[in-house]
Amino acid sequence: MNQNAAIVKTLPDAQTVTTVQHWTDRLFSFRVTRPQSLRFRSGEFVMIGLLDERGKPIMRAYSIASPNWDEELEFYSIKVPDGPLTSRLQHIQPGDQIILRPKPVGTLVLDALLPGKRIWFLATGTGLAPFASLMRDPETYERYEQVIMMHTCREKSELEYGRQLVESLKDDPLIGEMVGDKLLYYPTTTRETSDRMGRITDNLTSGKVFADLGIPQMNMDEDRAMVCGSLQFNLDVKTVLEGFGLREGANSEPLEYVVEKAFVGDGI
Ligand code: FAD
Ligand code: A2P
Repeated sequence: MNQNAAIVKTLPDAQTVTTVQHWTDRLFSFRVTRPQSLRFRSGEFVMIGLLDERGKPIMRAYSIASPNWDEELEFYSIKVPDGPLTSRLQHIQPGDQIILRPKPVGTLVLDALLPGKRIWFLATGTGLAPFASLMRDPETYERYEQVIMMHTCREKSELEYGRQLVESLKDDPLIGEMVGDKLLYYPTTTRETSDRMGRITDNLTSGKVFADLGIPQMNMDEDRAMVCGSLQFNLDVKTVLEGFGLREGANSEPLEYVVEKAFVGDGI
């Protein structure tokens, strides 16, 4: 256990780290104990953090990557070398404590969309996190006939967390049967050669993804979408979705798509 963890332990919102897995030098995932009172809707985010050297909390928004039925909470994180939080967070180990404010919020929730036939999850980088939760929520499969997960990163190694998660769903004793063949996974890389390549925006506008998956072109009667990436990605995807006739909704006014930033800034 590191020194920082020992300090945090005295805080009321402390939770204990149970597992940590490093995926690349820029990406890791970890699980923590779940406060008994914490209820959340899959796709929502909470504030998590650590104390700095002076004992002041450094808090950041994090999507909950685990489904709402899970006993623990899972997070999927970037490592920003000089980032105030993640330069520290990347060193957590099982038994350490983090701060977790149990007030989940967010727009990427199923209730913010009108009923439809297919739901599209469109993510780059750690924008996968809210969908790691939604892909494991039975309600997603109750509401939609098909669930399409498009995830794009520069390199193959950055897709690995999502790939293993999707792979594990088939045999999941709790939801494997519900997922069946409803989940269509469409990972792509943009800078390393792989089986499938290209930006999400390009694969939608060219129609390649529809042809590859054998589904009709996106349309406002059948398709719903959730978007999570950098600000520019979100803006560009919005333009594409609006081009297919989809309109942006919200919790208060469900429509055909919703958007959330995966982080603030230009990315690393
Ligand atoms: P910061 O000072 O917060 O960021 C420094 C710079 O690093 C940013 O300006 C940006 O350029 C870049 N950056 C920050 N986060 C990312 C990222 N995720 N991917 C690429 N570049 C980034 N981060 C996660 O890792 N996982 C999540 O599930 C997650 N969910 C979020 C949900 C919401 C609604 C928002 C607004 C942000 C979310 N973030 C998530 C980003 C997170 O809040 C922090 O920015 C991140 O943990 C880095 O913190 P930091 O203090 O080390 O650096
Ligand atoms: P590209 O390699 O063509 O820039 P980053 O690592 O910069 O955050 O990007 C993550 C992934 O998102 C990369 O594959 C990147 O493709 C893609 N991407 C970045 N910006 C956009 C955008 N505005 N529209 C579509 N895809 C984007």
